[in-house]
Order: sequence, then C-alpha cells, then structure tokens
Amino acid sequence: MADNYADMVLTTGMGDIRRDPWLKASIDAFADTVGDLGPVLDVGCGPGTVTGYLAERGLDVSGVDLSSRMIENARRLHPGCRFSVASATDLDLGEASLGGVLGWWSLFNLPRDILPQVLAHFARALMPGGHFLTATHVGDEDAVRTEAYGGVSVRWTTHKWRPEQLVDLIEQAGLRPVAELRLPADETRGPGVVIMAKRPA
Ligand SMILES: C[S@@+](CC[C@H](N)C(=O)[O-])C[C@H]1O[C@@H](n2cnc3c(N)ncnc32)[C@H](O)[C@@H]1O
Repeated sequence: MADNYADMVLTTGMGDIRRDPWLKASIDAFADTVGDLGPVLDVGCGPGTVTGYLAERGLDVSGVDLSSRMIENARRLHPGCRFSVASATDLDLGEASLGGVLGWWSLFNLPRDILPQVLAHFARALMPGGHFLTATHVGDEDAVRTEAYGGVSVRWTTHKWRPEQLVDLIEQAGLRPVAELRLPADETRGPGVVIMAKRPA
C-alpha cells in the first residue's frame, strides 16, 4: 500500500501541494511563520512530500510515520531529509522543543478519544509562538475504507471532523487557532479543512 501511495504521488501528483494553490498557500504561510523559530516535525509524513518541500524552503524539518514502508519511500524520494518510524501517539517530544508541528492529512487516522491527548502533546512540544498545522477530512462519520490507492485492499477508519469540533479540541489542547481554510468537495475529493493554531507566547 505504501509503495502504491508513493507511486501515485509521483505519477498523479496526489498529495503534491505544488498542484493545489490553496494547500500550497497554507504550507507556505506555515513555513513563513515558523521558519526561524526552531525544528519542525511532520507527523504522518507518508512518502515525505511536504517534509521535502519544507526542507527545500530551508526549514529544519524531519518526518515521522507509523508505516516503516512509507518511511522507506520517504528516505528514497528525499534522501537529504531525516525520517523515522513512530506513531503520533508515542512520540518522545521535549517540552517547548519545536517551532512547528504538522498533522497534514494524517490525524484522521487517530481514534476520536486519542486525538485530544495527541494534540495536548503537540501543544506542550511547541515553543511559545510555535505553530501547529493540520489538514483533515470534514464530516460526521467514521468512514471504513477497504480499498485505497489503486485498488489495494486495506482496512482503516477515517475519522472525519466538523471544523468547529476540531477547533474546540485544538483550543482545549492549549493552542489558539489563527487561521482556518474550508475546502469544499470537488470531483476528486470530499470536503476538507486546514487549521493553523499557535501556542500562545
Ligand atoms: C493520507 S497519508 C498522508 C501522508 C502525508 N502527510 C501527505 O500529505 O502526503 C496518511 C499518513 O498517516 C500515517 N499514519 C496513520 N496513523 C498514524 C499514526 N498513528 N502515527 C503516525 N503516522 C500515522 C499513515 O501511515 C500515512 O502515511
């Protein structure tokens, strides 16, 4: 599955923020904001598309993903970047050690009752003034997927969030939302939302 995902990134541009001006603008705004603050961690980095983009922009960025195969692909595609295998639920992050954290189309995989703890952990790991950026699928349901990325059999659940619910969780974690971008459904995807939030100084 990870190999198919990485192939589709290369052949179709899936997940390539350079092809979507709004997603690219969000990542650029994040990069402009956190660039000089400190290290950035891309959590659920997959094949490292965004990690690689941020590294090209000169950020001190690394990526982690639960899937060792995704990390193999990330290392192959972005040999100049640092990647490691780890779960968002089990990261060893120092207090106030990061300038930025990304959960870019990855946190919807976390069970609903786990996400608040993960957000709180991210919030503690951010320096005052550090930023969190997330993009996720919008809705009310838990969508069970049995096929993905070119017909590969999978079994995972996408926990969709209503933007206001997610904003509440982010605030409860101790972060202050600073921007929200709604992405209406189009012919290729369902609705989504991008939220950026800050650890108050
Ligand atoms: C849809 S992909 C997005 C990858 C990348 N962020 C991008 O935008 O191209 C979701 C990624 O989240 C990873 N993931 C799922 N659960 C995770 C967890 N608990 N911790 C870390 N990564 C996780 C998956 O392995 C997958 O690579």
